[in-house]
Amino acid sequence: MTKKKFYVSTPIYYPNDIPHLGHAYTTIAADALSRWQKLLGKDVFFLTGTDEHGKKLQNAAESKGLKPKEFIDKIVPKFKEAWKKLNINYSYFIRTTDKSHEDVVSKVLQKVYDSGEIYKGTYSGLYCTSCEAYYTEQDAPSLKCPVHESKLEKLEEESYFFKLSKYQNFLLDLYKKNPDFISPKGKRKEVINRVKEGLKDLSISRSSFNWGVPLPFDKTHVTYVWFDALLNYYSATRLGKNKKYWPADVHLIGKDILWFHTVYWPAMLKSAGIELPKKVFAHGWWTVLNKKMGKSAGNAIKIDELISYAGTDATRYFLLRQTPFGDDGDFSKETLIEKYNQELANKLGNLVSRVSTLAEKYGLKESISVLSSAKIFESVEKYLENLEFDKALNEIFSFIDSCNEYIQQKKPWETKDSKVLYELSNAIKDISILLSPFIPETSEKISKVFNFPLTLKALKTPLKITKIKKSPILFEKIK
Ligand code: MSP
Repeated sequence: MTKKKFYVSTPIYYPNDIPHLGHAYTTIAADALSRWQKLLGKDVFFLTGTDEHGKKLQNAAESKGLKPKEFIDKIVPKFKEAWKKLNINYSYFIRTTDKSHEDVVSKVLQKVYDSGEIYKGTYSGLYCTSCEAYYTEQDAPSLKCPVHESKLEKLEEESYFFKLSKYQNFLLDLYKKNPDFISPKGKRKEVINRVKEGLKDLSISRSSFNWGVPLPFDKTHVTYVWFDALLNYYSATRLGKNKKYWPADVHLIGKDILWFHTVYWPAMLKSAGIELPKKVFAHGWWTVLNKKMGKSAGNAIKIDELISYAGTDATRYFLLRQTPFGDDGDFSKETLIEKYNQELANKLGNLVSRVSTLAEKYGLKESISVLSSAKIFESVEKYLENLEFDKALNEIFSFIDSCNEYIQQKKPWETKDSKVLYELSNAIKDISILLSPFIPETSEKISKVFNFPLTLKALKTPLKITKIKKSPILFEKIK
């Protein structure tokens, strides 16, 4: 039987600087989702990568006295290292300077051009290079970028335009027929309202610099970086055996880039005759101690710092547990450590430590357990279907609470009851399997102590009795 496929992507990040908490957030969410879908038995394609063209990158390279590609080649490995440290198990890392990607961009542009949906004109208006986005005076009456608060640049240059305006009805119809296409719901409304106001044609080329994919029909222009970047999700599936993965099941993105993904992207695909992705989910933004995180504020938390507080699993756990995925959250080292101590160390760590210590002493004896995880699994499945990571984790932790209550109540250290210890060990098996998408390293350690594989089958079958050895400390308390 062929496995059902599942395709999840992160945005491709600008390698103008090394990755930080914001980048880690989407990537961890995508990794947890990908691991969960794999656990369910799907054939998963998880794509991430870097967005390497455009003025922003050219400027960053120039400021270091380097050519764009030389500069980027130094930063891209930092992303790959960061993802390794965060235990991110992506299927493919795409770079928009890959020839295979550039070829797809050219082909799509040529197709859209041949169908008469690209024309030449002059772009005259405002631009934010940090966002790589066009703004109107209506969007930014103070002439400052609403995201970066920096002064917008006035552009006036020859440009090719994509007839985005003709896609208004198509898009409204798409949102109506596919209510989940834009998630969460609040964000969906925002997009619909803006699209209803009307769409302007989109400038899709720049002629005042050259760091980009040349237009196949006019080499004096380079492709607008977003037209190029969005196509990464599709171009990655044109390689080798990846074709079967298109269309994507879900693009995970931050709320700031929702418009590009839910307006430009489906219109571009429709125009090129390519099937549309099924869902775009926009998560919220993290502030740090209630301040906007950014380079200029000097408070961007880089990956090494992030994991230095309490380790990789705690970081993954905290980011997904602390706030609902669609909401904004506030990060502080103190709250991370508090959660680590209270939940990972006191609840999960203690349970595993107590049960494994007693099981080493008194052994296990098979018994039908009252600690069933069947309902928990169903809820977790439902929550993760809707990307409610926080609720899924809550559910698993409420099961951990039940186990901790059970051990208190049954006192196996007094009774030496190896049946109770079996019930608890079996529950620990289920907990670790359910947690494995979130804290893979810890789940792996627990699975070695109680000797079970981290699979769906093992979740659904009782633990096999083996000799148990006391678990190493999973989460050393942090002061
Ligand atoms: N290159 C584009 C994406 C192209 S996708 C075809 C881009 N790159 S980015 O590096 O600037 O940002 C990538 C992602 O990081 C965005 O989804 C953005 O929302 C996210 N974050 C950046 N700062 C963030 C926080 N402070 N909090 C959460 N996510 C944030 O945009």
